[in-house]
Amino acid sequence: MMNQSQILAPDARAARHQVWDVFLRLFHWSLAASVTVALVTGFLLDASWVRLHLGAGILAVILVMARIVWGFAGPAYARFEQFLPRPGALRAYLREHLAGAPRRRHVGHNPLGALMVVALLLAVLGLGATGLAYLGGGLKTGPLATILPATQTGFWSETHEALAAIILGLIVLHLGGVIHESRRCGENLARAMVTGCKEARSGDLVAPHRPARPILAAAVVLALLASGGAAVVALSGRPLQDPPVAAAEFPAVYADECAACHMAYHPALRSASSWQALMARLDDHFGEDASLPDETGAEITAWLTANSAETVDNRPASLWRDLSPLPVVALPDTPQWQELHENVDPALFKRRAVYSRSNCAACHRDAESGWFSPFAISIPKENTQ
Ligand code: HEC
Ligand code: HEC
Repeated sequence: MMNQSQILAPDARAARHQVWDVFLRLFHWSLAASVTVALVTGFLLDASWVRLHLGAGILAVILVMARIVWGFAGPAYARFEQFLPRPGALRAYLREHLAGAPRRRHVGHNPLGALMVVALLLAVLGLGATGLAYLGGGLKTGPLATILPATQTGFWSETHEALAAIILGLIVLHLGGVIHESRRCGENLARAMVTGCKEARSGDLVAPHRPARPILAAAVVLALLASGGAAVVALSGRPLQDPPVAAAEFPAVYADECAACHMAYHPALRSASSWQALMARLDDHFGEDASLPDETGAEITAWLTANSAETVDNRPASLWRDLSPLPVVALPDTPQWQELHENVDPALFKRRAVYSRSNCAACHRDAESGWFSPFAISIPKENTQ
């Protein structure tokens, strides 16, 4: 590995080393941009930015995949065999570094930089995997929707967030390392990642020439993309198990009797016992008298019970499935709802088009479907009706 492939340039006759090839530079800056967009949309902006977040995340994973292929088929400095240090080489480098400045300069990645490259590539892949698992288990969409069970706890989103915090830390360390090395060597490493060149100096550790195989690399990347894409399409097209009953299938009696004062609440938002408790007290229904003839009430209760949260495998159903039936509370009075909406400006709920926190459909375009996907959130503008 490094020890064999790197030799000491006897002297620096060539004024510059061509270190980073065009693909590598494009990769580097595109990855920096896509990870930045993914971090900003994920940490700072709300769920309505999820499309841009997904796009940036998918781009980052594709870039990393291409980079890994390039690590085997690219020119000398792009290759893993050139820069991945053996433990012994890493220890020697650290020892030298702690004792003072190492004399010999690595023109490519130095052993610590190489570890950072690997950590960043792995972190992006881990973020892609946990993001996909969050879509599948959390939101019941995407290729893993039929494979992972719906999670209430947000396990995948929490793992995804933890990894995102780790990559943020890695980026800070990476920037620190670049600044430190640039100072130490008196050469702007960020600019070298733009121009691709570094000054040649005597004693530089350079890599022996290795031919790049761009056509082979492109073919492998295209094959991976095509097979990955086909797998995603095939898996995403599989029918869901225990989906919520579609709004189009709500019986007319439910729309007539239970969607006159408010939106038609999806039956999967409550357990069977919670619906029964609510239906048993229609004369004292959130301060209103919503009494119904016994027969109509029984018909609606039976339908609600048959389509309640227990029968559905999605996130909203799992969130409120275990809600205690008594007292009958509105969902916005539950800790689950409050946690999900803790970052939503309370003033929004007072807008005329919203008027009540229980008017879920004002902000969740898919509320009647029982899905409450972050893809379908749109906050009504001030003073529109
Ligand atoms: C007379 C008007 C009226 C009728 C009819 C009515 N409701 Fe309600 N319902 C309300 C009000 C008011 C609230 C309190 C929530 C709010 O402020 O929007 C409420 C709240 C609810 C909630 C709690 C919402 C939440 O946020 O969890 C559910 C569930 C509900 N109603 C179901 C029903 C069902 C089922 C029927 C038909 C049997 C029905 N309602 C008929 C007025 C009505
Ligand atoms: C004023 C607009 C508004 C109303 C009304 C509203 N929500 Fe939300 N809801 C949001 C926003 C915005 C988010 C995303 C919050 C975030 O990402 O920080 C959200 C998030 C959610 C989520 C999580 C989506 C995800 O990311 O998986 C669920 C579930 C949900 N709301 C259910 C409800 C229910 C049920 C109601 C009605 C009882 C309701 N919401 C009423 C704005 C609203």
